[in-house]
Amino acid sequence: MKHLIDICDLSVSELDSLMEKAIDIKNNPEKYSEKCKGKKLATLFFEPSTRTRLSFEAAMYELGGNVLGFSEAGSSSSSKGESVADTARIVGCYADIIAMRHPKEGAPLVASMKAGIPVINAGDGGHHHPTQTLADLLTIKIKKGGFDNLTVGLCGDLKYGRTVHSLIMALSRYKNIKLVLISPEELRIPNYVIKDIIIPNNMEYVETADLEKAIPELDILYMTRIQRERFDSLETYERLKDSYILNRAKLNNAKKDLCILHPLPRVNEISVDVDDDERACYFEQALNGKYMRMALILKLLGIDGKNIEKNTSEEELCYDYKCENPRCITSVEQELPHIFKKSDKDNGVYRCIYCESKAKNN
Ligand code: CP
Repeated sequence: MKHLIDICDLSVSELDSLMEKAIDIKNNPEKYSEKCKGKKLATLFFEPSTRTRLSFEAAMYELGGNVLGFSEAGSSSSSKGESVADTARIVGCYADIIAMRHPKEGAPLVASMKAGIPVINAGDGGHHHPTQTLADLLTIKIKKGGFDNLTVGLCGDLKYGRTVHSLIMALSRYKNIKLVLISPEELRIPNYVIKDIIIPNNMEYVETADLEKAIPELDILYMTRIQRERFDSLETYERLKDSYILNRAKLNNAKKDLCILHPLPRVNEISVDVDDDERACYFEQALNGKYMRMALILKLLGIDGKNIEKNTSEEELCYDYKCENPRCITSVEQELPHIFKKSDKDNGVYRCIYCESKAKNN
């Protein structure tokens, strides 16, 4: 069974062919208008969404298919205590493919183990958001022609920002990328991203709190929202929420061909006076997301081109540890087995298969 749980489920050549397909869909929509006739996409959104859910639904309709699902946990039987695994097993009887968003890390992975149909991670807590990365990559490719040798600034909530983590994972596979990680101290990129992704892939990086100083050298500026819903303390959110506000004046020293991205929604971190600047690419980025999701649906359903084959190299699994990450799906679903896998990234450390937290005492 083929799923998209994190962006590394796709090889670089698969990413290339998805981008090629998305561009062909954008240029020739009529060629694809019946490709998914008779197929159903289930959108299971346990967290709010505008772009991801609606672009998935628009994608399926434009491919000639149908859509069913829910847009909040309260309107599904999860509000009565049904597990993610049972929900996925049931929806697998009604639909051909699932797109799932959930506040807990690893929930879409759990669904992929039970659904019997392809599952797409549409965002799991502060963990991954691979289809946002597909939108980001296509926009960068269109604007910059490719990915090598770019200086990429990532600004805002780098700690809980799942879109940032997925984008860094994707960019780590290209050559000579420099990352400028711009955040307040409290929202710095997690250590594991530096240790497991940035350093092993020899990516150059600097961390700074100063957006204005960083702007002149950037080819890409990826702004993100300070996410109120990820904070335990409202006081901390209030203190940090206005850390960065990009406006026209701050772009005076930026490159003429800077590409400004934002996964959206924005609150105030990009002033509306930037929207008319030709370097503002975030609305086009949201549109590109629809074409990439169309290409992905076709691929996962095996309708156009080859399916994704997950790398199934021998994995050492371990059932002796308990995941202690309060954001992991295992923290709310007591029946889930706690499974750890020996990481091939960091010398045999065991990590939770759902949220990738390290096992304690190993
Ligand atoms: N970028 C993104 O995930 O937006 P939504 O939360 O509106 O889906």
